[in-house]
Amino acid sequence: MSLAVTLSRAQEGVAAPQVMVEVHLSGGLPGTHIVGLPEAAVREARDRVRVAIQSAAFEYPNRRVTVNLAPAELPKDGGRFDLAIALGILAAGNQVPREKLDDCEFLGELALSGQLRPVSGVLPALLRARARGRRVVVPRANADEAALIPEVDVRVADTLSDVCGWLRGSQELLQPAATLTLTSDNDVGPDLIDVRGQLQARRALEITAVGGHHLLLMGPPGTGKTMLAERLPGILPPMSESEALETCAVLSVAGQNVDLTHWRRRPFRAPHHTASAVALVGGGSQPRPGEISLAHNGVLFLDELPEFSRHVLEVLREPLESGSILISRAARQLRFPAQFQFVGAMNPCPCGYAGDTRQRCRCTPDQVQRYRSRISGPLLDRIDLCVEVPAVPLSELSTQRSAYAEDSATVRKRVMRARQHALARAGRPNAEISNRELERDCALGPAERKWFDAALERLGLSARAYHRTLRVARTIADLDNGAAALDRQHLAEALQYRRLSLLSD
Ligand SMILES: Nc1ncnc2c1ncn2[C@@H]1O[C@H](COP(=O)(O)OP(=O)(O)OP(=O)(O)O)[C@@H](O)[C@H]1O
Ligand SMILES: [Mg+2]
Repeated sequence: MSLAVTLSRAQEGVAAPQVMVEVHLSGGLPGTHIVGLPEAAVREARDRVRVAIQSAAFEYPNRRVTVNLAPAELPKDGGRFDLAIALGILAAGNQVPREKLDDCEFLGELALSGQLRPVSGVLPALLRARARGRRVVVPRANADEAALIPEVDVRVADTLSDVCGWLRGSQELLQPAATLTLTSDNDVGPDLIDVRGQLQARRALEITAVGGHHLLLMGPPGTGKTMLAERLPGILPPMSESEALETCAVLSVAGQNVDLTHWRRRPFRAPHHTASAVALVGGGSQPRPGEISLAHNGVLFLDELPEFSRHVLEVLREPLESGSILISRAARQLRFPAQFQFVGAMNPCPCGYAGDTRQRCRCTPDQVQRYRSRISGPLLDRIDLCVEVPAVPLSELSTQRSAYAEDSATVRKRVMRARQHALARAGRPNAEISNRELERDCALGPAERKWFDAALERLGLSARAYHRTLRVARTIADLDNGAAALDRQHLAEALQYRRLSLLSD
């Protein structure tokens, strides 16, 4: 029979749907046709595969070759199907045996020499292959990603002829990918011990870490805003294995390297303010994840927030609430995960010194107003905690070490203990629970409710702000030994972090 089928996987967002490569050889005019919605790079596989097969000292069939990539409606891009197509052609011509093809998936682009080149999105493909119990052959340059999933039998290949030799029974030609002993990562990066003073900001950072809330730091230049933000990942609990795999899958799809030694550490992405909307949220003709998806399960830090273009900030509104981003492309829509924690930093005015005791502010009220209005009300409404980061007195900076300064490891322990309460209740940090779960888990006595309602009324807060403030209060109670009922102190502290947002209206 001159029909052969090999298996591969496409890339669609962070999913890796299966693609069956059917190859049929028939009489008629010699020539090769690839059908099944291939994009330009896949159509070019025809030439790459022909030369690679000849370089590997096999014979390219002198017949009519039809290659069908199924399912047909799935758009297919890149050179990732080259290996599967080449093996299909060789199997259809009986140059390699077909027995092993049924339970094996192949990924890899071919060079004209027959060498295998790396492809993006290997990790998502391996996750799907694991669910199917199949083995996978990947190019050597992708072997790192295989180390993360030891349950899959992944074989690492250098060339097309090695893969063919292996299919013919020379087991030693394709080595299994090395596996990694997965350790939890205790290296926290920059340490909070370096930050002097800023007790209120440290407290807000800790609350943010426990609940996964969004945070805005505002203050004059050189007071430690950037320092504090960079230290957030160090006090966050490490990612669970499944979270880490999700985050690595985004990196893999973006074609970026996974840092194997710190793969459980939460990502910290700090795009520059000149970044375009596409770089930030993702997109493009072959949709790629943006910074917000690369920050999935970690922190997205926008330093000098008002310098970002208004449009860029507005596109953040949807993912800030939904934890994912929908990218529309010609006829299809792709959803990328984007469950990140937002941290912004800004000066209070263009010159930076409004409200500072050290220097006089030179801005007119109009300039200040214009500067702050670059951050729209709807965006501010989504930010749970706003804190001021004032100048630190010189006396405090020059002391060797403040008496109350804690290191990141100590704070992280407290954060993990407090987050445990939320995980026990709802299985998720407080920022991610639904409104219904929130109502269930935030017991307010009649006196507290009345007080809270009155305070909200006075501050003129939106319904969204109501729920968001309640979530922060829930987190504050979790830090207070997981108190089941919220008291007035919890609520008052949560409300206090809302105040700044009013400045900008
Ligand atoms: N609270 C602090 N404790 C210790 N060092 C500090 C503190 N604040 C500032 N510094 C020192 O000043 C430097 C600049 O701090 P950082 O970059 O965090 O300021 P910033 O608030 O982000 O300023 P800008 O508004 O200009 O971005 C730090 O590298 C550190 O050396
Ligand atoms: Mg800064």
